[in-house]
Order: sequence, then structure tokens, then C-alpha cells
Amino acid sequence: MINRPRRLRANPLIRGMVRETRVSADSLIYPIFFEEGTNIKAEISAMEGQYRYSPDRAKEIIDDCLSHGVNKVLLFGIPREKDEVGSQAYAENGIVQQAIRAIKEEYKDDIYVITDVCMCEYTSHGHCGILCGHDVDNDETLKYLTAIAVSHAAAGADMVAPSDMMDGRIAALRAGLDDNGFQNTPIMSYAVKYASKFYGPFREAAGSAPSFGDRKAYQMDPHNIREAMKEAALDEEEGADILMVKPAMSYLDVVKELSYNTNLPIAAYSVSGEYAMIKNAGKAGLIDEYGIMCETTTSMYRAGVDILMTYYAREIADAIKRGDIG
Ligand code: PBG
Repeated sequence: MINRPRRLRANPLIRGMVRETRVSADSLIYPIFFEEGTNIKAEISAMEGQYRYSPDRAKEIIDDCLSHGVNKVLLFGIPREKDEVGSQAYAENGIVQQAIRAIKEEYKDDIYVITDVCMCEYTSHGHCGILCGHDVDNDETLKYLTAIAVSHAAAGADMVAPSDMMDGRIAALRAGLDDNGFQNTPIMSYAVKYASKFYGPFREAAGSAPSFGDRKAYQMDPHNIREAMKEAALDEEEGADILMVKPAMSYLDVVKELSYNTNLPIAAYSVSGEYAMIKNAGKAGLIDEYGIMCETTTSMYRAGVDILMTYYAREIADAIKRGDIG
């Protein structure tokens, strides 16, 4: 007797019934870049279709997200002034704080606002913390990260997402948020963030490339996965509510392994380089951009991703409606 798995592939209805991976637009988060000024919508040259907005034009992009069914956003800021300690990152009227207020005034709880907590876009040297010589001073940096997170929560952020990779930052942020009355603000930790070339286009978008050296003394070595489990476990112990793996596409083994090792929701960030590769290969006529977007997204959820940050969030939400993604 022949075993016939094809019986369950006969038509779209039965394929839909036996599908193992189901994706919902509820789990998508769209990253948005804000810069200081007014009436700005500037295309990011390394990321076609992505723009930097001034806060007064937030409505345009938020309305668009909502019209596709995407109601979670991750905010990044590009300040006018950078300095040694990234003081615009925690300034009461900093760019992200302005953007949060603009969005929250208009939309209240109709949109969930998450903020990236880091210093590299705000420091003159482009590193993710306070320098001591050529090294980032871990414990000194924690004080600044805490101030940044608290300032975001005070401006109305629903959730904070630290991406700096300093040791002990989740405990520091949790204590700082709690002390300031933000016990209910969750922390999504970039727990497992690799030192990756996939961030290249983002660094152009945010003007955040380090002026010397690299980030290998704080971000993780792409060769390691046991260390990823250690990082994730530490962040869980310190009070993280959600654990993130970043980048996504080349790190799905890490997502899978993490899914066996935690009971927290797992997020992944499909980063700028992943978007740019698919976008540009599609434009060059080498691949089917839409089809590859659907397939790579499906593979992320199949690996165990619960929540996905992606520059394709709106297109993915449409693909889910059409049934092209589970
Ligand atoms: C750091 C940060 C980076 C990204 C998100 N947060 C860049 C970096 O670590 O250099 C990358 C996101 C992307 O590439 O899309 N604040």
C-alpha cells in the first residue's frame, strides 16, 4: 500500500484545514523612524518604501497602518543634536517623546506604541552607551538607559524595548519604571541580539553607525547559540515580559531553541538588511518579492515566532487577508 500524504493537499480548503502555522496581523509590529522638524516625509535610500517622518506627519503613517490592520508600532528617533551622553534620548522634549505624544493625543489606545531604548542614534560616537576610553562603561550606561525608558513611559509609551545589550539592563529598567509609577509598562527585551551586518541599512536610516570600532563587545557573536539561551534566561530572571531574537531570517534555529527554553512570548525582528535584500532582489527581477516575503514570514512563525517586527508589516497583513500567509 502506498502512503499518500497528497490526500491532504488536494485543494485549498483541505490545505487550509491542515495548516500547522497560523499567522495573525495582531502579532505584527511596524517600525517607524521620526526626525526633528516639521512637514518631513523623506525616503530612506537604503530602504525603498520606508520613510523618516517629522512628528506632525505621524498621522499619515499611523492611519495607513491602521487601514491595513496593523495597530502596533515601534518608534525610533533621529535627534538634531548628538552628544557624548546621548542626552536627547532622555530629554523631555526629545524626538521620540514628541512622536509618542503626537500619536497618543490623536489615537489614545487605538494604537499600541513601543519604543526602542538605546543610545546609538543619540551619541556623537554612535556607540550604545557611555564611553570610558574606547570601551562602553556597562554600569554607567544602565543609569542612562533607565532614564530613557522612564522618559518614554512618561510621554505615554505602552511598552519599552531595550536594544543596547548591556548586562543587567532589564533589572535596571524594571526597577526604574517601578519606582516612577510605571509598574504596568511591559519590557520587551532585545535579549538575543547578534552583532550583524544585516543592520547596515538601518544605520544609514538612523545615522547610528559607530564612529570607531564595532559593536562586538556588547552584541552577540553569530557563532553562538548556548550563549543565546544564557542571555535569554538572564533577561527572563531580571523581569523581561517578552524575549526578542534579532535578526530573524538567519537566526531561526535560535528562535526554535528558545521556544523550548522559555514560557515567555518570543518576538523576532526581521531587520533592515533582510527587507533591503528582498526589496532589491525583487526590483532587479531576480525573485518574486511578494512570494518571498510570504515564504520568509511563514518560516519565522513556523520556527516559533509569536510576534514579528517587520518593515513589511502592512503588506504581510494584506497577504494574511488574502490567504497567502496562514
Ligand atoms: C539599536 C538598534 C539597531 C536596530 C534596532 N535597534 C541597530 C544596531 O544595533 O546597530 C536595527 C534594526 C534594523 O536593522 O532594522 N538601537
